[in-house]
Amino acid sequence: MANNDKGSTWWSEDTVAVVTGANKGIGLEMVRQFAQNGVTTILTARNEERGQSAVRLLKAEGLQNVDFHQLEVTDLKSVEDFAAWLKQRYGGLDILINNAGMHSLNYTDKKQGAKDVIDANYYGVKNVTKELLPVIRTGGRIVNVSSRLGQLQNLNSKELKETISSEEHLSENLIDSFVNEFLAAVNKGEISKQGWPTVDFAGNDPEATSDYCVSKIALNAYTKVLAFQLSGRLYINSFCPGYTQTDMTRGLGTKTVKEGADTGVWLALLPPSSHDLTSGKFFGERAQIPF
Ligand SMILES: NC(=O)c1ccc[n+]([C@@H]2O[C@H](COP(=O)([O-])OP(=O)(O)OC[C@H]3O[C@@H](n4cnc5c(N)ncnc54)[C@H](OP(=O)(O)O)[C@@H]3O)[C@@H](O)[C@H]2O)c1
Repeated sequence: MANNDKGSTWWSEDTVAVVTGANKGIGLEMVRQFAQNGVTTILTARNEERGQSAVRLLKAEGLQNVDFHQLEVTDLKSVEDFAAWLKQRYGGLDILINNAGMHSLNYTDKKQGAKDVIDANYYGVKNVTKELLPVIRTGGRIVNVSSRLGQLQNLNSKELKETISSEEHLSENLIDSFVNEFLAAVNKGEISKQGWPTVDFAGNDPEATSDYCVSKIALNAYTKVLAFQLSGRLYINSFCPGYTQTDMTRGLGTKTVKEGADTGVWLALLPPSSHDLTSGKFFGERAQIPF
């Protein structure tokens, strides 16, 4: 990695990175890349067995600087337990990668699917971030794994677009209301009628990806709000890995996990002197892209 060129590294073995949803896919690959760069990395997973098995895999590759803790991002008790463990064992962290995520394409109950997707992809990120914020060291990085499906252009309603892109009024409360409005539309069967995203993605019913799009729109908006709140203390950005070969895409992506993880790891390890180091922005392929 470019960051690892002699003289441009700012981290050491005392630098601690946490990756959520890291037992497989892009999260697992991000853990691998951080550990290969010499960062002490905590692989977290909601399922203890799947997480431990992923850690064994990385240790067998020679990466001894990987630790494990259980973390279900939608379970506040699990999030609190993890934060307490991390604080006690490492004193804090420097890099948080909010990677855990899901879609609802395999749900037959679409209302439940939408609720679960918003819970994991939006509220899950908030749960973990809020709990860990007090122990993220100054100058630290938060990277949210988002998606181009969460770009504002996917909203079909001008009003909805204006609501969620308003620099002046954007707040956590506004984003919470936005996702609640979406869930109400799902319950009323009015996704298309109200102008929520209907993206024709990989041959699925366009309404089927609506919840995923909204969860990532909300995540990008939250990234902006948080960047504003934490300005001068932490750097927080989101990125799209691109269409990546993981279980989420049933292996159909055009990118390998190595390529999918690249921009997130790059963002997290940018040297403090880099002119690319910014906050509240959305990235793809190591470059800023529109929200
Ligand atoms: N693959 C793509 O093309 C693509 C494109 C754009 C964005 N993304 C984003 O990239 C991230 C990683 O996706 P991926 O492609 O690597 O998918 P993946 O292989 O399905 O991995 C998702 C990971 O998230 C975990 N997870 C899901 N819900 C969780 C929860 N509530 N608490 C804790 N962990 C949870 C999963 O755990 P289990 O194994 O226990 O289910 C798994 O480890 C997601 O945020 C996704 O939206 C992916």
